[in-house]
Amino acid sequence: MIKVGIIGVGTVGQSVANILEKNKALIGARAGKEISVVKGVVSNINKKRDVSIPLSDNVDDILDDDSIDIVVELMGGVDEPYKIVQKALSNGKAVVTANKALLAYHRYDLQKIAQDIPIGYEASVAGGIPIINALKVGLSANQITAIKGIMNGTCNYMLTKMMQEGVRYEDILQEAQDLGYAEADPTFDVGGFDAAHKLLILASIAYGIDAKPEDILIEGIENIGQDDIAFAKEFNYSIKLLAIAKKINTKIELRVHPVLIRNDQMIAKIDGVMNGVSVIGDCVGETLYYGPGAGGDATASAVIADIIEIVRAGQSSPMLGFKRPFQSENLILMPKEEIESEYYLRMLVDDAPGVLASIAQILGKHNISIETFLQRPSDNNKKATLLCATHECQEKYIIAAIKEIESLQSVNAKIVMIRIES
Ligand code: HSE
Repeated sequence: MIKVGIIGVGTVGQSVANILEKNKALIGARAGKEISVVKGVVSNINKKRDVSIPLSDNVDDILDDDSIDIVVELMGGVDEPYKIVQKALSNGKAVVTANKALLAYHRYDLQKIAQDIPIGYEASVAGGIPIINALKVGLSANQITAIKGIMNGTCNYMLTKMMQEGVRYEDILQEAQDLGYAEADPTFDVGGFDAAHKLLILASIAYGIDAKPEDILIEGIENIGQDDIAFAKEFNYSIKLLAIAKKINTKIELRVHPVLIRNDQMIAKIDGVMNGVSVIGDCVGETLYYGPGAGGDATASAVIADIIEIVRAGQSSPMLGFKRPFQSENLILMPKEEIESEYYLRMLVDDAPGVLASIAQILGKHNISIETFLQRPSDNNKKATLLCATHECQEKYIIAAIKEIESLQSVNAKIVMIRIES
């Protein structure tokens, strides 16, 4: 019998224990051995939990128990779980974790420490969608041209409600939290960090690239307003928080930010709390993975798949998918300023002669070509909202142009910029 200890028996942990019990015979047949959760560790022992396993509040009750084969880490955070996972590995225990923040910072250290001890982390990206396995195994013949993922259910739920029901940003965050999809600190969701952690994990498997959250462009959905939603509707776009990895020659572009994306693109159709990841490979073309990215049972489905795989095959492939470094291309991270995109700008300006001309002149000076320009009347009749879409240009030029436009006397607020994903 394989013995499992769970550290962090919250929503996902309870589901893991209960599903392993409910589907015991089937899972045992698939794994070839009976799998049993023998202990759980929690921070608050007095809190009632819906599980029948013995609970303790001391991690060493699992880490120092020689009979336990697999440690499931579901506690969240970075430093504390890093210490715990290191100790589990040094005690020879396999590890399964859903902790994307831990992996965003320490995946390469953990791979090194683990050597041949298995570490499973399917649940860390897009919850129940088996995207890690798809990239590591199913698409391993391919050069990955691009990954575009909607990998934060909270943001996708909020943006969908804003687009479809006209709900305002401020009124929808609480609802998303109440539904139980948001992180303990929801700024991780709306600020784009949760999606960035997931993107970094996928980029390691796709490209073997070791980047940290602070190395990449991360923007959240906090500034999306009603005018942006109206523009998107009028011009047949959806607004999504997209995590993007692209291979451009020997440079890898990694970024997370809201985008305006044409409604006819497959990824634009992923609505509500659901996640979707499009992966383009040079042999296979575009593949799309869709499903629940959060929630107890859906995430537990991925955690248990890792447990079964460990029992069945041990470390069937290296943690991040590369048996030896892939050096022939010397891939590097593309500097943020070199990223190319089309841009949408929203500007609150004085409604006065020459204002539009001065803005157009600044854009022209930075070699930015305008695709669409719209003026909307404002509630205050001395002000106007200008909405502008540009043709493709490098990030550094649009940033410089925005700075210069913002310094005009006639521009009354910070400009909202959204990238257009074509
Ligand atoms: N807070 C995350 C989300 C949960 O909203 O998708 C899964 O990582």
